[in-house]
Amino acid sequence: MKPRDRLRIAMQKSGRLTEPALELLNRCGLTFRQSRDKLFCFGEGEPVDLLLVRDDDIPGLISQGVCDLGIVGRNVLSEYRLTGGLDGPALAEWRPLGFGRCRLSVAVPQELDYRDASQLQGQRIATSYPGLLGEWLRERGVDASVVTLAGSVEIAPRLGTADAICDLVQSGGTLVANQLREADVLLESEAVLAGPQVLPTDERGDMIDLLLKRLDGVIQVRE
Ligand code: PRP
Ligand code: MG
Ligand code: ZN
Repeated sequence: MKPRDRLRIAMQKSGRLTEPALELLNRCGLTFRQSRDKLFCFGEGEPVDLLLVRDDDIPGLISQGVCDLGIVGRNVLSEYRLTGGLDGPALAEWRPLGFGRCRLSVAVPQELDYRDASQLQGQRIATSYPGLLGEWLRERGVDASVVTLAGSVEIAPRLGTADAICDLVQSGGTLVANQLREADVLLESEAVLAGPQVLPTDERGDMIDLLLKRLDGVIQVRE
């Protein structure tokens, strides 16, 4: 395969991170020929292109070398490190980006009086984050059965397929709508710039250095 000479950044195709991620890249002086419904966005000034994909696919695309960097939630990156990415190259969180803040939390039925994780012993917990939840339970010596669902996790207790859930909470609206309440926080998350632990040393590496410098400037101004 011919090495790419342009930098490629993966980001969420459509979702909560899409707009703020594009805006941040614009503020770093990167502009793209907008083809939002397409998979690819061509960089106009600098040699940097975007790949618009499902957020869960971003860590894998980086470890396969399909993309050099990605803008993705810490929750997705951390889960990948524990589950999908065990054989591939190590990935790093290069910068926290200050948007898309949310929590990965355990939530229980509203009427349940939750004190600590020991109450989850023997319970069924639905989640899209089996790696992070499994690690959290192990660290607390709690033996629970983890039910992995791809989405709409909050509905599982009402369907009778789980006793509790572990999912992202931002406004808390989804929990309330499903008569659940946040019981314990596993991870504070936000959008991060993810990339390989070992950055390339060619022109793409130089472009990454430049991008990190600009990001630091933009983030500093915003704080
Ligand atoms: C996310 C997350 C929760 C919800 C939390 O789902 O999985 O379900 O948002 O947000 P809230 O606290 O503001 O209600 P999303 O809408 O991204 O859909 P998905 O689960 O299908 O990815
Ligand atoms: Mg998602
Ligand atoms: Zn959800």
